[in-house]
Amino acid sequence: MLPAPYAKEPVFEAHRWHAAESSYRKVAGLFGYQEVRTPIFEDIELFLRSSGETSDVVSKEMYDFKDKGDRHVALRPEGTAPAMRAYIDSSMGGQGVVSRLCYFGPVFRYNRPQKGRYRQFHQAGYELIGSPSPLADAEIITATVRYFKEIGLDNLVVKVNSIGRAETRGAYELAILSHVDKWLDGQDEEQQAKARKNPLRLLDTKDPDLRAELDGLPSILGFLGDDSKANFAALQEHLAESGVAYEVDDSIVRGLDYYTDTVFEVVSTEYGALCGGGRYDGLVEQLGGPSTPSVGVGIGVERALLVADMAGKAPRAEAPSRWYVVAATESARAAARTLAIELRSMGVGCTLDLDGRSVKAQFKQADRNGASMTAVLGDDELANETVSVKDLVTGEQKTLPRHVFLRIADD
Ligand code: HAM
Repeated sequence: MLPAPYAKEPVFEAHRWHAAESSYRKVAGLFGYQEVRTPIFEDIELFLRSSGETSDVVSKEMYDFKDKGDRHVALRPEGTAPAMRAYIDSSMGGQGVVSRLCYFGPVFRYNRPQKGRYRQFHQAGYELIGSPSPLADAEIITATVRYFKEIGLDNLVVKVNSIGRAETRGAYELAILSHVDKWLDGQDEEQQAKARKNPLRLLDTKDPDLRAELDGLPSILGFLGDDSKANFAALQEHLAESGVAYEVDDSIVRGLDYYTDTVFEVVSTEYGALCGGGRYDGLVEQLGGPSTPSVGVGIGVERALLVADMAGKAPRAEAPSRWYVVAATESARAAARTLAIELRSMGVGCTLDLDGRSVKAQFKQADRNGASMTAVLGDDELANETVSVKDLVTGEQKTLPRHVFLRIADD
């Protein structure tokens, strides 16, 4: 017996992926984002330096291995760091230049698969590089909401928060540690060290004891500096101006370490976060580039498609080809093949029987293939140089001169 599928991804028919990708491309076009394709694996250093050694994504969930030359590499656990590496390596930036990049592809995280969580999944990402303006944050959020709309998800509420600059987080981390002081004393050394290294991570906890302990913790919003406060207020104005439904949720801190100021998520009750994003003003510099304020989002495509399914918004499959050419008699088979060649040379897709099936079986096959039209050739049609057309959806039938049929076939 074969082992169970490893990645445990939900299996969507290919047309769902096409729709997910064409929506992503449509949004890229609407907002002017250029696609980058980055390698699936990278030197592990890229992720250690960007996503943060204290984040679960890097410390626990990365697929890493040594190659035959003893180089330490990792399957990408997210799309932002590779996109920034590509941005730096190809010198896309420059003083005052704003770049808009996007990507769509598989990412990998070693975790326990469950509903909405897989070891291999896909992210659609949009990254706006080089602008410090809250208008950039608003653009990313607006593009995200548009993506969800394109795949059929309306009425989503975006949860936004600001985690401020380094000083804010420093002060807030001290506040967290002093708030959970007693609980921390009861933890083992490893847990204590981890909590002290990145206290913000404690806020993501699902542990009920720690959750209770965190009750009454003051909001990070009270710790923001003046600039961060002003930017957060401006972001909210811009979102309102763009008609984006949002709410402020000060519990959103995000699981990766590179964020500054704005962070946001769209959350579904069934599948958790459908996307996550925010501003990461220090990342490009951290990776060896010039100081470049940036903001972006990663959309979890499987989760988004699962929610579209629940909402009854899954698009129907399109047939691989619209026409099925039927040979109604033995002597019409060669003429049917010729007609198929002609249709294809005109750029019209069609399918036909290769195995000498009966007329009834050919119609059945046409139906199975999802064809909506049949072009039937029999002895009468050959004698009169006509084609009989049957619309499989409406049942309508007509016989047309062959040259007329060829003119209308691609309508
Ligand atoms: P992230 O929140 O780690 O952010 O992932 C983005 C989205 O990927 C999540 O909101 C979720 O929908 C989906 N996701 C995460 N883990 C899984 C999983 N195991 N199975 C299925 N879906 C999953 C990032 O990766 C950042 N790079 C986002 C970003 C872009 N920030 C700025 N620019």
